[in-house]
Amino acid sequence: MSQRYLITSALPYINGVKHIGNLIGSMLPADVYARYLRQEGHEVLFICGTDEHGAPAELAAQDANEPVAEYCQKMFEVQKKCYEGFCISFDYFGRTSAPSNHKLSADIFDSLYERGFIEEKCISQYYSPVDGRFLPDRYVEGTCPHCGFEKARGDQCDGCGRLLDPEELIRPYSVLSKSYDIFLKQTQHYFLNLPKLEDSITEWVDTQNGWSDIVRGVAQKWIKDGLQARCITRDLNWGIELPEKYQKGDTRKVFYVWFDAPNGYISITQDWAAGERAKWERWWKPEKFDDVFYVQFMAKDNLPFHTVFWPAMLIGAGMDVKKPDDIKGMSWLTYEKGKFSTSQKRGVFLDEALSFFPADYWRYYLLANCPEANDSDFTFESFAATVNKDLIGVLGNFVNRTFTVFRKSFNSEIPHMVEDKELQEKCERVLCEISELLASRKFRQATQKLRALWVLGNEYITEKTPWVAQPSSGPAIAQCLNLMRVFAIASAPFIPQVAQRIAALLNISWEEICEAPIAGCFSNAMLAEGSVLPHDTDTVLFNKIEDDVVDALTQQYSGNNAAQ
Ligand code: 2FM
Ligand code: ZN
Repeated sequence: MSQRYLITSALPYINGVKHIGNLIGSMLPADVYARYLRQEGHEVLFICGTDEHGAPAELAAQDANEPVAEYCQKMFEVQKKCYEGFCISFDYFGRTSAPSNHKLSADIFDSLYERGFIEEKCISQYYSPVDGRFLPDRYVEGTCPHCGFEKARGDQCDGCGRLLDPEELIRPYSVLSKSYDIFLKQTQHYFLNLPKLEDSITEWVDTQNGWSDIVRGVAQKWIKDGLQARCITRDLNWGIELPEKYQKGDTRKVFYVWFDAPNGYISITQDWAAGERAKWERWWKPEKFDDVFYVQFMAKDNLPFHTVFWPAMLIGAGMDVKKPDDIKGMSWLTYEKGKFSTSQKRGVFLDEALSFFPADYWRYYLLANCPEANDSDFTFESFAATVNKDLIGVLGNFVNRTFTVFRKSFNSEIPHMVEDKELQEKCERVLCEISELLASRKFRQATQKLRALWVLGNEYITEKTPWVAQPSSGPAIAQCLNLMRVFAIASAPFIPQVAQRIAALLNISWEEICEAPIAGCFSNAMLAEGSVLPHDTDTVLFNKIEDDVVDALTQQYSGNNAAQ
């Protein structure tokens, strides 16, 4: 039976432009997988969008001095444009603030309430008379009781990294007004009764055979550490408001951001379908359609919410929607051995990255160093070394050598080709490996194999020396052109812009490349003997990254505290 693939990439927070670590932490591997599957002829739906609620969104808007809704609209556009620049081939990029998610999240809450999985509790929370509101954890700062750091946040101390409760802070104050006149006050909230769902969620997690041991381990640990009722409402001005009948007291309650964000996967699909029920249900209703394979991509810190929290919500609400067949949890990309930081201008952010190098340089480097099993570290030095060695030294070099001889000695007319069984077998083996690795979502190894494929081309041309006039030059060049087509097909999911340029050099349409499965493409890759290819297209696919550029960029993006 043919399968359809639903792919979601974790929905990036709206507050600010994301960095290259976020890109490789979810969207880029998801994109390579989606492109690969489409090339295999599968029907794919690739969904993502901005995660727009929560205190960080409100605070970022405040910093920008803009109303939250306007800030979110603007940042949504900015982020969407960034991902387009990196050729992320979403079928739809939506927003969790859309009306569809308001309705869906309210419906899920309603069902959870009706089915007895919601409880109400009074908690004490800081209240600020000056601001006229309750202050969620992130809105309170003060001195850390453990290390004395003076700007510790209510939820965590950046000085010592410890998780905190706002009540623990010494001399707490409001982040909004900086007022110290704040006090604890009772406020009523709704909690998701996770302990009551423990048996069903444990059973569900234990039966997820497709997940890796690491992913299942994270879920089981979360459950084993003891599931506690979790507060799913907040006293914020921005967010999805609870339905009227659940509003109590004098402050408006909105949902906790992790309550509404994952529902966004479904509501964004509804928006993609422009509300056409049959269209989105085709992807999300397992009782009607059992041919969908669903893969979620995310950074590893998101795993507990996707393996336990969201499924528990859906199980509790009695919603039979498609749940993930596999979850790909990515490790961290560090920046020069440390953290990325927007405020310190440390690290490369997506709105600037493309101003100094094309998307495929980034895509290739990040995939070759994909933080899959382990964290991986970015430096401009290793970036330049990879681009210069692999893209220029191997792929670019091969294309250049082939085309120089082809144009000079053959006047761009494709010579007669003679089968080369040995080359064919070698290539086919590697093509199968690339395909299998992509099918099993092992991106780093797949990229290594892609490079190994390009190396075969260089070895071949070096051995055949077609630049020396001899009877075998024609067949060798024809074979090299054939290899270029193979390289375009195999490289397409990884470096689509370059693959497109190679296709253009060969006068092959991009559609043809996108419809050619990787495994087995060697045998099909026959070019028409005697046809003349464009003579004037630029064959230089990449430009070398010089040491002085590396030095300047390293300096520029090392953060304010680089000198210390
Ligand atoms: O970590 C993050 O960037 C979250 N915004 C991911 C949310 S994924 C989904 F649940 F929306
Ligand atoms: Zn501390």
